[in-house]
Amino acid sequence: MNKEKSPYLPENATILNVEKMAEREKLFEIELDSGEPLNHEPGQFVEVSVPGVGEAPISISSSPTKEGNSFELCIRKVGNVTNVIHTLEEGDQIGIRGPYGEGFPVEELKGHDVIFIAGGLGIAPLRSLINYTLDRREEFEDIKILYGCRKPCELLYEDEVEEWRGMDNIDYRETVDECPDDVCWEGNVGVITTLIPGIDIDLENSYTVVCGPPIMYRFVLQELKQKEVPDERIYLSLERRMKCGVGKCGHCQINGKDGEFYVCQDGPVFNYDIVNDFEEAL
Ligand SMILES: Cc1cc2nc3c(=O)[nH]c(=O)nc-3n(C[C@H](O)[C@H](O)[C@H](O)COP(=O)(O)OP(=O)(O)OC[C@H]3O[C@@H](n4cnc5c(N)ncnc54)[C@H](O)[C@@H]3O)c2cc1C
Ligand code: FES
Repeated sequence: MNKEKSPYLPENATILNVEKMAEREKLFEIELDSGEPLNHEPGQFVEVSVPGVGEAPISISSSPTKEGNSFELCIRKVGNVTNVIHTLEEGDQIGIRGPYGEGFPVEELKGHDVIFIAGGLGIAPLRSLINYTLDRREEFEDIKILYGCRKPCELLYEDEVEEWRGMDNIDYRETVDECPDDVCWEGNVGVITTLIPGIDIDLENSYTVVCGPPIMYRFVLQELKQKEVPDERIYLSLERRMKCGVGKCGHCQINGKDGEFYVCQDGPVFNYDIVNDFEEAL
């Protein structure tokens, strides 16, 4: 009998904790029933399955430096699979395949300044890398986090964000697109690109990592261009509709003049210098 793990077979996993984060997002702490750690890298994703409903690719939101064998997924309720996942509670079972994909190039970032630019749910994959850099703070130079969402009530990871606001060894800045009159908000009001002109970027020594809704990339990249950030110093995490998650079905294919990419296998994290030539990518 072939004892090698099939990439198509989910492993049983148990939900250890569920936390409501915002109107549409919940944070799930999960452990594989095998008791093994997930062994992921920041930026990778898993396929989460609910028997009889389907599967959804979800970024791993916790850092591999987190204690214990559990991992965390921040899941927005948007359709068939995620609606059902949102009804699940502590002790319920789900299926997990993965971790899959190319994550952030952690080793390349070490010894450099890292600038994080997160829009909306884009904070979910970036939080894995952010917490990695904070847990191994001495291995990185300056850390800047720019985080934007539509309204204050959509801010995710509120407790951690509160810690980031008070940390003196990072530069944390936040913005909301709009703020209702009756809500107290001390951060900036405006889209995330309004935060970029105010930061100093050491062009020789910085990497910028960006994750957010598709519309955000074009404008963020324009601002980074204004600052003369070289394309090869920018990493982006892309999202495409996926099925297999392992480079077999072609659902997540991006075509360019020099070939094609599978976002599930070659990404989801890409160097901008590479995807820049692929019109379909952004
Ligand atoms: C690498 C990666 C990482 C991700 N990380 C996260 C994460 O950390 N957290 C998170 O919440 N989400 C994440 N997502 C998005 C998540 O995978 C989707 O929201 C999820 O698959 C939706 O599944 P569903 O069955 O709940 O929704 P569906 O029922 O599939 O519907 C989702 C939405 O897509 C629309 N839709 C349905 N079919 C199509 C189609 N064929 N083409 C275009 N639109 C369609 C629907 O109308 C609906 O608005 C990630 C996606 C990728 C690729
Ligand atoms: S999801 Fe099947 S090839 Fe990427």
